[in-house]
Amino acid sequence: MFYDLARRFMFTRDAEWAHEFALHNLRRFSNTPFSAAWSQSVTDHPVEFLGLQFKNPVGLAAGLDKDAQCIDAFAQMGFGFLEVGTVTPRPQVGNDKPRIFRLPQSNAIINRMGFNNKGVDNLVANVKAAKYDGILGINIGKNKDTPNEQGKDDYIHCMRKVFEYASYITVNISSPNTPGLRDLQYGAALDDLLQSLKNEQLDLIAKHGKQVPMLVKIAPDLDEVQIRQVSESLLNNKIDGVIATNTTLERASVHGQQYADEAGGLSGQPVRARSTHVVKELKRLTGGALPIIGVGGIDDAPSAKEKLEAGADLLQVYTGFIYKGPQLVKTILNDL
Ligand SMILES: Cc1cc2nc3c(=O)[nH]c(=O)nc-3n(C[C@H](O)[C@H](O)[C@H](O)COP(=O)(O)O)c2cc1C
Repeated sequence: MFYDLARRFMFTRDAEWAHEFALHNLRRFSNTPFSAAWSQSVTDHPVEFLGLQFKNPVGLAAGLDKDAQCIDAFAQMGFGFLEVGTVTPRPQVGNDKPRIFRLPQSNAIINRMGFNNKGVDNLVANVKAAKYDGILGINIGKNKDTPNEQGKDDYIHCMRKVFEYASYITVNISSPNTPGLRDLQYGAALDDLLQSLKNEQLDLIAKHGKQVPMLVKIAPDLDEVQIRQVSESLLNNKIDGVIATNTTLERASVHGQQYADEAGGLSGQPVRARSTHVVKELKRLTGGALPIIGVGGIDDAPSAKEKLEAGADLLQVYTGFIYKGPQLVKTILNDL
């Protein structure tokens, strides 16, 4: 009810303005009685994944709370886990505005944010200040002005900074909005990156005496050969899990709609089938050896079940949450 009203108001405004407005108020009121507007209790659906205990399998996907400003508020909505970021070593402003567009006919969004964030030190300070003690994934990336050849230094820098505070770390190599980033998904560049990050992870585990699984987030736009190569590389380098998928460059299903030709990544219903296909292929190719978080176009119980049936162990939502609000978490859990 509250979200219906809030959404009606916010959808009359520019998408990024609405996003900032929502985050500002979630942060401001999260530990006050006003948080009753979005707080809800949900049925427990405990899941064990990567040695971690999740209250339920529905998580908040990366990109909504890039700077980890609103962890407590999102936790109050009943998510089983939260993923913050993508964060980069240094703050960066991202691409020029406007850079988020709603396609309501398809319950979709196109974004080309470009990793706007306040940098990893700021994120860590926000995580430390939060009261939340549930499962927190921290999604890391590279600065736009760092050449790909030095990209691994950015990921390693972020890993070191967040390791102590993360339940798991996601290596994002699949955003379409940082030029060249997706090239890290292929061949020798991928193997080289994963090998270095695995070594760093092992060093950090030894140093902190704490297991922090590392997942890699991949694009939906990989062809069959590329999905096979990525899955082999993830297994060879003993990566703990995979998040499938990020946003798509495809536009076929939104052709003709307002904003359909804007540059960036398309998310929501139009990416659902492709993401599910990638999850299914990963499951098949790895024989279940690679834990999977499924994300892309989940906006009701059937789309959530579809990902689980395809082989996902956990789920994340972003665009569906923008369209449906916190009730989406409940809707999915009530039908599991
Ligand atoms: C506005 C926006 C910003 C996003 N930013 C990030 C990001 O910073 N890092 C990331 O890994 N994914 C990011 N994503 C991708 C989502 O986490 C998710 O993988 C994708 O949108 C597919 O899920 P959905 O259909 O539920 O939105 C972003 C998505 C949107 C719509």
